[in-house]
Amino acid sequence: MHDEALKGGERWVRPWWRGAVFYEVYVRSFADSNDDGIGDLPGITSRLEYLKRLGVDAIWITPFYPSPQKDHGYDVSDYYGVNPEYGTLEDFDHLVERAHELRLKVLVDLVPNHTSDQHPWFQAALSSPDDPHRERYYFADPKPDGSPPNNWESAFGGSAWAKDERSGQWYLHLFAPEQPDLCWWDPEVPQEFERIIRFWLDHGADGYRIDVASALFKREDLADRPMVEDPRTGLPIPDSSFKVIDQPAVHEVYRAWRRILNDYHPDRVLVGEIFDPRRQSQYILPDQLNMAFALVRARWDASLWKRSIDVDRRAAPGPVAAPSWTQSNHDLVRHVTRLGGGFTGRARGRAALLLLLGLPGQVFLFQGEELGLEEVNVPPDKRQDPFYIHSGGKEAGRDGCRVPLPWHKGQLNAGFSTADPWLPMPSGWDHFAVDAQAGSADSMLVFYQRALALRRALTGMLPNQFRWRAAPEGVLLYEHGRLTVAVNFLARPMVVPIRGRLLIASHPLARSRNGRLTLPANSGAWLDNLG
Ligand code: NOJ
Repeated sequence: MHDEALKGGERWVRPWWRGAVFYEVYVRSFADSNDDGIGDLPGITSRLEYLKRLGVDAIWITPFYPSPQKDHGYDVSDYYGVNPEYGTLEDFDHLVERAHELRLKVLVDLVPNHTSDQHPWFQAALSSPDDPHRERYYFADPKPDGSPPNNWESAFGGSAWAKDERSGQWYLHLFAPEQPDLCWWDPEVPQEFERIIRFWLDHGADGYRIDVASALFKREDLADRPMVEDPRTGLPIPDSSFKVIDQPAVHEVYRAWRRILNDYHPDRVLVGEIFDPRRQSQYILPDQLNMAFALVRARWDASLWKRSIDVDRRAAPGPVAAPSWTQSNHDLVRHVTRLGGGFTGRARGRAALLLLLGLPGQVFLFQGEELGLEEVNVPPDKRQDPFYIHSGGKEAGRDGCRVPLPWHKGQLNAGFSTADPWLPMPSGWDHFAVDAQAGSADSMLVFYQRALALRRALTGMLPNQFRWRAAPEGVLLYEHGRLTVAVNFLARPMVVPIRGRLLIASHPLARSRNGRLTLPANSGAWLDNLG
């Protein structure tokens, strides 16, 4: 995977991750090896060949550390172990070993912003107001009227502060109350995370996806977020331009991590969970992170997609930085559903894959998108997401994209597990099963395999830049070296005056003849403009 390309007259070695396709494995829902209804590490290992055949280069595994699972692993109680539900450290070693045999890289999910409230540090902090571990979190006195120290809000709803009844002080949690925020201003915290980082790299991890990467440091004065007038309603709302996170000190941390990673060969990577393109350029730098997410979630409209792609490419203008195109992850409504659902949503999903896969940069896939899975309406009494719980049911939560994968048609629980899966599957879920799609030429799975194989064949031949070409309204057309990509966003067929050999199309009726590309509604195609 180490291509060499000619860059500005010098030989430039392309690192393995550059242009790679990553696949997010949501450990709880991917594959269950011991039939307890919960996915696990040996389950992942048993399916690595499936991922290899799919054509990805690397996997990112969501947190598998010991955790009370109040936010499904994003509440870590021990950063050096494996949750017994998911296996053992030996299982992790075995997974990495097998992945490397197959030439797949493995990214671990690092959760540095907060621990679980069951982490020994937080338990010690609660034991007494004088305990030194309190410095590692944000404990503060209430306001004179007894209300929380400031008006910051939790991402899961309500105040970001919870009361420590014993001392009368409050502690900060930007997410659930069971996820107290670490205070990175305390030197013990960065020191500990350097040990953690080395630990998993020494166990063979190829890098990290960093949870809430821009939030580690909070503004030190813990000042109230000012209220401003909402221009639309005239009502007071919290000023979103007031910076609580994104403090300059975080960059020193990433510089230190980069130095650590630089001691390992081949390259190890850092992917920051940062979505706002305006902030990414401060993080994606040779001495800090390699990647952040270029999330495209515009509605199905050619000009909105073009704008979204342009904003992200300006935020990461190669060759050091390049966008990491993403449509779905474990926090979002599945994109087939966002794009209209059913037949239309899947047709658009295929076209969108070709649009993003043809661009320079990396691509992040979320498990199950290769099967065309849709968001599930999980019955309210079965929902488990803290976002649903802490919003008092106002938010649907994220369970709908986390329903376990269907592996076998006609089997109990679609072959995921003989026990009831931790989230229930809707009826007919096995219709999407891997073995139902694997042999069928027109399935979503085979389409993903073909598109990824073509992309792999082209990698190394394509430059870092692409350019838009004029196209009829409702159609996006770009050229990326010898590759021409066209997508028709409209609900009727379109003819695009463009020449080239059809490499792949998302719809069987697409044709390229006599300098005219015919694209059925909601479809896309790749042309070889040299062929
Ligand atoms: C982002 C993760 O993707 C999400 O699942 C989690 O709830 C929050 N960070 C808090 O860790």
